[in-house]
Amino acid sequence: MTAGAPAPSVEANGARIPLLGLGTWELRGRTCARVVEQALRLGYRHLDTAELYENEREVGEGFRASGAKRNDVFVTTKIWPSHFAPRELARAARDCLVRLRLSEVDLLLLHWPNPQIPLPDTIGALCKVKRDGLARHIGVSNFTVALIDEALAASNEPLVCNQIECHPFLDQSKVIKACRAHGMAVVAYSPIARGDARGNAVLGRIGAAHKKTAVQVCLRFLVQHGIVVIPRTSKVERLSENAAIFDFELSKQEMTEIAGLAHPGGRVVDWAFSGRPKWD
Ligand SMILES: NC(=O)c1ccc[n+]([C@@H]2O[C@H](COP(=O)([O-])OP(=O)(O)OC[C@H]3O[C@@H](n4cnc5c(N)ncnc54)[C@H](OP(=O)(O)O)[C@@H]3O)[C@@H](O)[C@H]2O)c1
Repeated sequence: MTAGAPAPSVEANGARIPLLGLGTWELRGRTCARVVEQALRLGYRHLDTAELYENEREVGEGFRASGAKRNDVFVTTKIWPSHFAPRELARAARDCLVRLRLSEVDLLLLHWPNPQIPLPDTIGALCKVKRDGLARHIGVSNFTVALIDEALAASNEPLVCNQIECHPFLDQSKVIKACRAHGMAVVAYSPIARGDARGNAVLGRIGAAHKKTAVQVCLRFLVQHGIVVIPRTSKVERLSENAAIFDFELSKQEMTEIAGLAHPGGRVVDWAFSGRPKWD
């Protein structure tokens, strides 16, 4: 990826999503604003935040400081499940925009399923938020195959993605297949398994053959499958490493070997996760 060049992207139900984004979970304060600014200066064209991350203000600050044009950057945020009641969802979406200082986001996601609130009600509210012009596109995150079906049945607007944990150590083939069948993009969170990719011998060996790092091979594996990646780093010097994934290609044999790294205990994010934001 070169600054100034068009960002490689995928098309999904009318949305064009840059294949590389910057994850921002746990980035806070000045570090967050600085990393976002530098990422955009280096050519990143996609930012991933959420109301849960409590950094939308800083993401917006970094964006403005970078001088990047609004239309050139794809901004995603997510609504936390405690705000899934229809009226709450609309208010939460407006609050996100106020913090980001944007008039609309490119993509608004339901962050995690909430079994306490009927999904059709939440999807209806999400569609209305889109029709009201607060989000150009809408989608879901952490949805299973069954929940994707339920969400699609309830939606009268296209759902453009499912953001899920995805990296070589986890087999997500079933949910990926379901997303593809419905034209939805797969956005991989924790794409380098929270840094674990770095020490992996197979990824390291394949990387050495391409003069790339294990982390770059890990990210390349995903984008070569047409999966969007949103690696996070708090270190400006790692932004370039994580972005240099579009100038080499893995062979079919290498892709197969990397896919073989998946194992049952490969998940790094706990599905029983119930991080309670302050507003609960
Ligand atoms: N929808 C959801 O429910 C959900 C859940 C989790 C995450 N997400 C999103 O996905 C993003 C990415 O996932 P993640 O933050 O969980 O994990 P990740 O991007 O897989 O890994 C981040 C970790 O890797 C390290 N790292 C980054 N680049 C590196 C490199 N080149 N070499 C070695 N280590 C490196 C970072 O440390 P340094 O800071 O020290 O570089 C950090 O500890 C999040 O930030 C968030 O935006 C969404």
